[in-house]
Amino acid sequence: MSKVDVLLGLQWGDEGKGKIVDVITPEYDLICRFQGGPNAGHTIEFGGKKHVLHTVPSGIFREQCINIIGNGVVIDPVTFENEIEELKSSGLDAKKRILISRRAHLILPTHRMLDEASEAAKGKGKIGSTLKGIGPAYMDKTGRNGLRVGDIELPDFKERYDALVEKHKQILSHYAFSVELDEKQKIWFEAIRKLSAFKFIDSEHYINEALLAGKKVLAEGAQGSLLDIDFGTYPYVTSSTTMAAGACTGLGIAPNKIGRVIGIFKAYCTRVGGGPFPSELTDDVGEKIRKIGNEFGSTTGRARRCGWLDLPALKYAILLNGVTELCMMKADVLEAFENVKVCTRYKCKSGTTEALPYLFSPGSHEPDYLTFPAWKKGGSNPSVLDPALLSYIRFVEQQTGVPIRIVSLGPGRDETMVR
Ligand code: GDP
Ligand code: IMO
Ligand code: MG
Repeated sequence: MSKVDVLLGLQWGDEGKGKIVDVITPEYDLICRFQGGPNAGHTIEFGGKKHVLHTVPSGIFREQCINIIGNGVVIDPVTFENEIEELKSSGLDAKKRILISRRAHLILPTHRMLDEASEAAKGKGKIGSTLKGIGPAYMDKTGRNGLRVGDIELPDFKERYDALVEKHKQILSHYAFSVELDEKQKIWFEAIRKLSAFKFIDSEHYINEALLAGKKVLAEGAQGSLLDIDFGTYPYVTSSTTMAAGACTGLGIAPNKIGRVIGIFKAYCTRVGGGPFPSELTDDVGEKIRKIGNEFGSTTGRARRCGWLDLPALKYAILLNGVTELCMMKADVLEAFENVKVCTRYKCKSGTTEALPYLFSPGSHEPDYLTFPAWKKGGSNPSVLDPALLSYIRFVEQQTGVPIRIVSLGPGRDETMVR
């Protein structure tokens, strides 16, 4: 019997999960998304083309592979349909390669309105949500009001939908939000009709049977550990379990069936949206990282905040996920610098600490940096890394106690070094 490998982000999302899933998919039979929804934007580049996936798992471009949207995911049928259409325009018939869990929850147009209303009401303290309706959809799931994919097959689906929308309208009336639903609802039901053409499955059975048959399964995380609902920088987080544990609940996998845990991190840090970011660079250096790293959101286009690598935060994520191997992404971006810094601990009132606090309040935790010489672009042999990059890699490995198995040096499939 085989096990499920989990691949996830160790920072605030956008670490490059999509790229690595695509690179390693040939080793797998099933790629399964287990949480999140269209707030995710996973970029894959090959053949001179860039693809951004939101709900579709990143194994979609490899022919032999089945892609599962697990029960822990929230699906907006409209975004999903757009994604499928875009894939079709690149000549890919995704329908054959995608299976959807009946237990996955649906995002309604009113979930998006609730997201918008809630963010607007928060004013300056807003989360910086992608406004895709993620929080409200998960609230309905845990509040036991949600609509699930399997409900589409029930005769009273429309009544269930209407009852939920009625609840939403009541809540929206407290926000004085004008609800113009007719057109959106029409588009949504049309997208539901198209979603129905996909195969709905009981994915917990499907995946466990695949494991019994010795199939290789990879669970693809969305967002990152520091956006986790429990362990992220709450309340500036997303509404799902982005940790390895989320693969168990989001797919129906017992903990003893988890195999490798592959943790992805950038050689620096980024964050999009609000919330604490101790090693953030609000100066020219941050601007330079953003420009060279093209750090603009794949889903919303917003500028990502940039800063140096935060080791205490990385170690925290490694600990909570049981990471067995690391992938260091975007090392090429730092080639443009003379020196590179790493936050190794925080300076706080009581001295220094490596522990992430319950709350980061402004100025409570100042990064303590070590400086490293930056590296230069590799020569003609890509398997030979610049000694400066090698010592940066070794430093992170020694600090975390986890090997860096992949070093990514560009967005393309072949700009990847497996060590
Ligand atoms: P994800 O959400 O974790 O899948 O990451 P995103 O796709 O949102 O953001 C990562 C961005 O960095 C994308 O634009 C990728 O094409 C790009 N990327 C991935 N790996 C590398 C790399 O090693 N170097 C560079 N320069 N870009 C990369
Ligand atoms: P991938 O999978 C980066 C951030 C948002 C916001 C917070 C809450 O591409 O790494 P939400 O829409 O979930 O209510 O937003 O989380 N966020 C992400 N940041 N990458 C993502 O996904 C993200 N998904 C959500 O910017 O700060
Ligand atoms: Mg992304």
